[in-house]
Amino acid sequence: MKKFYITTPIYYSSGNPHIGHANTTIMADVLAKYKKLIGYKTYFLTGMDEHGQKIEEVAKKNNISCIDMINNNAKIFQELWKKLNINYDYFIRTSNDKHKEFIQKIFNELYEKGYIYLDVWKSKYCVSCEENILESEIKEKDGQKVCQHGHSLIDKNEESYFLKVSEFKNWVINFLNNNDVVYPKNRINELLSNFLNDNFTDLSISRTTFDWGIKVPINDKHVIYVWLDALFNYISALKINNVFDEFWDDETEKVHLLSKEITRFHCIYWPIFLEMLNLPKPSKIISHGWIVTKEGKMSKSLGNVINPFELIDKYGSDVVRYYSMKEVSIKNDSIYDIELLENCYNSDLANRYGNIISRVLGMTKKYFDNKIPKYIGVDNEINKTFHKKIIDFIVGIEDKINSLDVNEIVNYVVLFEDQINLYVEELKPWALIKEERIEEVQDFINLIYYAAQLVVWYLSPILNDATLIATKQMKFNLNDFCLNLERQILKNENNMLEESSPIFQRIISK
Ligand code: MSP
Repeated sequence: MKKFYITTPIYYSSGNPHIGHANTTIMADVLAKYKKLIGYKTYFLTGMDEHGQKIEEVAKKNNISCIDMINNNAKIFQELWKKLNINYDYFIRTSNDKHKEFIQKIFNELYEKGYIYLDVWKSKYCVSCEENILESEIKEKDGQKVCQHGHSLIDKNEESYFLKVSEFKNWVINFLNNNDVVYPKNRINELLSNFLNDNFTDLSISRTTFDWGIKVPINDKHVIYVWLDALFNYISALKINNVFDEFWDDETEKVHLLSKEITRFHCIYWPIFLEMLNLPKPSKIISHGWIVTKEGKMSKSLGNVINPFELIDKYGSDVVRYYSMKEVSIKNDSIYDIELLENCYNSDLANRYGNIISRVLGMTKKYFDNKIPKYIGVDNEINKTFHKKIIDFIVGIEDKINSLDVNEIVNYVVLFEDQINLYVEELKPWALIKEERIEEVQDFINLIYYAAQLVVWYLSPILNDATLIATKQMKFNLNDFCLNLERQILKNENNMLEESSPIFQRIISK
């Protein structure tokens, strides 16, 4: 059986989840479900990044212990995933003792291999981003030195352990250029020019200025740098669940999802860490664009942070999931906007998906008393052409799923939905009935019913509640649905369909 492993970034435990976190997690959930649909054994990991200076500071500011804060926040994120019908296999938290032991073991291994040395780190550090800022990255704002996101920087002169990543610069450049690992591809150019240049130096991997982290096993004055701790979650989680050998081997398709601001850590440092330890590398790192609002980037100070809980309460989880997968672009930044969401809902979910199902139910009721008639296979050009379109659709969608570009998958289904509607208009079953060409209408109902089943089947990784309603109304079971047209059509014969009731009511804007 082919295997597929997908991860989201582990989210910082210093704040509440927003629509950006939700979007990446929905995407991972949807891709895992699509891969399952085409026969893969899958493993889907998400979780929380719970160490580091920022978490310590936020907890202090809120007068709460770090432990209480991370426990509360893990609960809130998990609650959101439940509301969004996210089915992860494991929720990793870096405060987990087994994860901590694993990270210390990794540190020892890298040390024993001679990749770690002690030195002094003089640098500018951004507390908000949890990273040392290179000279070339420092910007100026109101006469102050700031990082690329505009946060102020602090001076650091600190004893630190370093990892000899600079020895791997050429290796990683080759790795990025020779493998189809980064998607979209143009992110590689940014990495090469911004980071893999003459300033690419060894990485400081320990801190002495705060406590909230995993202790360096050979020197307890130091805690391990949060990114080393965090990136290894992708394999510590597998070890904890005894599936490391199964899902971190060369055969498994191993995919990391994230957005562009942390591409550098995933595409440069993470492969180098793995190479140092002779471990397999990820097969794909998908770095999607940012969600922004009409006012620009979401930020607490602008008050434009989109709260996913409120959206789900208002529109339901299916709508939030569908809109994210269809309209939030992987390649570019996207504006997340309620008007766009409502338009997408009306055009795609109410007018396409919902309408196709209610049309099939309505016509089956009108022409055949709700019962799927026998398929005859009489000669009719329009039926024949549509039959071929169905087969092409099934063949084509597998490539789309394997491209892992959710925007493309959804758009491909939408095109098929449009073909279904066109088919009805072209065949005009109402006219055939008048001419008593019943057998052709029998074939038509069979083909369109099967096509509607395909739509439900291929949107089931995205739509949860709607799938339950649609399969109930259409009287079929996803668990024994068969992609072979002839066989499924035989199975469908005599199905008694339910009365149609709208799955998605149109939203009338005020
Ligand atoms: N803890 C690190 C990741 C460590 S992974 C080994 C971190 N956490 S985070 O809480 O800041 O989450 C960042 C991720 O959340 C992004 O990479 C992206 O997947 C998602 N998003 C957060 N804000 C986003 C947008 N505005 N738009 C889209 N996704 C964004 O970085």
